[in-house]
Amino acid sequence: MDFEFPYAKPSIEAADKQAVYDALGEARLTRGPITERFERAIGDMVGARFVVAFNSGTSALWAAANAAHISAADHIITTPNSFIATIAPALSCGAHLRFVDIDRSSGNMDVQAAKELLRQPRSRGRTVIMPVHFAGIAVDMKKLTGALVDPDAVIIEDAAHALGSFYPSGEPVGSSAYSQMTVFSFHPAKTITTGEGGCVTTNDEQFYHRLKLYRNNALIREKPDLEREPASGYYEIHELGMNMHMTEMQAALGLAQLTRLPLFKNKRRSLVQRYRERLQRHPHITLFDEAFDTRSVYHLFCVQIDFTKMGIERAAFMQKLREAGIGTDVHYIPLYQHHVIKQKYGDQTASFPHMEAYYSQTLTLPLYYDLTEENIDYITNVICNFPTENRI
Ligand SMILES: Cc1ncc(COP(=O)(O)O)c(C=O)c1O
Repeated sequence: MDFEFPYAKPSIEAADKQAVYDALGEARLTRGPITERFERAIGDMVGARFVVAFNSGTSALWAAANAAHISAADHIITTPNSFIATIAPALSCGAHLRFVDIDRSSGNMDVQAAKELLRQPRSRGRTVIMPVHFAGIAVDMKKLTGALVDPDAVIIEDAAHALGSFYPSGEPVGSSAYSQMTVFSFHPAKTITTGEGGCVTTNDEQFYHRLKLYRNNALIREKPDLEREPASGYYEIHELGMNMHMTEMQAALGLAQLTRLPLFKNKRRSLVQRYRERLQRHPHITLFDEAFDTRSVYHLFCVQIDFTKMGIERAAFMQKLREAGIGTDVHYIPLYQHHVIKQKYGDQTASFPHMEAYYSQTLTLPLYYDLTEENIDYITNVICNFPTENRI
C-alpha cells in the first residue's frame, strides 16, 4: 500500500534524472570513471583515504568482513538494535556473536557495557567490534576504542544510517578515525540514494586492495599477487569473490545526491525540531536525547511510545496511522530474537532488558526531505488526538 506519508522517501529532482540519463550515454555502464569520481567525492567529504563503492550496503558489509578475514575463531561485539545485514557475514563464517545492551537515549550500543565486555579475557581469536550508528546518531568511537586491549582487534563501523553525521569527538562518520573500515548504504530510505548501493571507507591500503578484489570476483591480473608474468587475457583466482560493482548510473545518481546532502541534513534537522516541539509534552512518548541533534543527520525518526498506557497494541496503532495515510515501521526487532540466531545461542532475551524495553515501545515516524512542517503537524495531531475510546 502507498501512504501519503511513508516513513521514508528519497528526493529525486530533475538534476538527479539528468545525471542518470547522461551516464547511460557513456561508453561504460559499469566499472568506469563516474564510480571513481563518486568514491573520491565520498572520501573527500568524510576525510577517508580510500573508498570502494558496492551495489548495496549489504555487499559492502560482506566485502569488509572478507577484507578483515573474519573467521570462526573471532568474537564479534555488536548491538542487537540493527538489521540482519550487520551480522550476516560474521554469522555465516561461524564467528561468535556477543551482543551489548543498548542505551535507550540513542538506540545505540551502550558504550560503557561494551567497554566492560572488552575487558573480559578471551581464550582464542580476535575481537571484532561492529558498532552501528543507529538512526544516524554516531556511537562515541573515541570512548569505545579507548578500552581496547586486544592489539589485533578489528573495528568495522556499520554507518548505513549515518552519512553526514559526526562523532562526539568532532570527526565525520566515515573518516574511519577510530576503525579499520566504515560501511555506508545508499538504499532509497537512507540520507542519499543510488537506488541500491553502498561503500566502504578505509585509510588502510591493504584493506582497500582486498575490498576491490572481493568486489571483482577476486580476479588477480597484476604483480605482486599474480604468480606468473602479467599478460593480456590472463588472470589468476586464489580465493572466491563476488560481482558487487556499482553501475555508472548509480554512481551518477550518487554524485548528484551528494551535492544536496547539506540541504537534506538541514531539512531533516528542522523537521526533527518540529517533531520535538509537537511531541515532547506527550505523557506517553519519549524521544531520543536532544543533545545528539546537532551532530546527527537523522536517517530515521524513532520515538518510544508506552503502548500500555496509550491503551493500544503497537500493530493496531500502526494500522490506525495507516488509515490516516501515515506510514510507520519498527527499527528493529532485536537481532537475537531472529530464528537464525536463536537456533545457535538459545533465548537471550533476559540478558538485554534495555533492548527489550526499547523494542516494546519503538515506532519510526515519517522523516524525509520532501516532508513539510505542516505535514509534521498533521502527523503529530493524529498521534496526539488519538481517541480514548480506542483503548483496549
Ligand atoms: C544498519 C544497516 N546495516 C546494513 C544495511 C544494509 O544496507 P543495504 O540495504 O544497502 O543492503 C541496512 C539497510 O537497511 C541497515 O539499516
